[in-house]
Amino acid sequence: MSTGMSGDWVDALTAEHRLTQGLFDTLEATDDSQVATRTTLLGKLKYALTKHANEEENVIYPALRQANLAHDADALTGEHGYVKTYLYELETLPKNSPDWLARVRDFRAMLEEHIRMEEEEVFPAFRKLMSPEQNARLTSLMNKEGFKMA
Ligand SMILES: [Fe+2]
Ligand SMILES: [Fe+2]
Repeated sequence: MSTGMSGDWVDALTAEHRLTQGLFDTLEATDDSQVATRTTLLGKLKYALTKHANEEENVIYPALRQANLAHDADALTGEHGYVKTYLYELETLPKNSPDWLARVRDFRAMLEEHIRMEEEEVFPAFRKLMSPEQNARLTSLMNKEGFKMA
């Protein structure tokens, strides 16, 4: 999976969104007896989402605020807080609980709306606002954040 070695920051973040959605597909296909599989998949999901949040929160959202788009950045940051809350709940709830998969589905619904806002509203509009040089700089800064956790 590309993590934006080249290309641009929007494409790289979009590819990471698809990777996350694939992990949710796999998680949702488990049943309550597959505790070890759920533990492994939850670990992968947490890693992927933490790396992704570092890239967005340390580079993209601050750049949005600098461009007077703090309203979008603040809303998206608030949603990242709920991502961490869902991860925490899924770690603490017994993985053979009949409620576990229901929480996964709630989590996914919340995250899908977050992804939709980033991909359809905030990110393309911001990319258009910037020069090719500014976009290239943002891509480079974001990749540096990603490499810290690669
Ligand atoms: Fe995000
Ligand atoms: Fe994102």
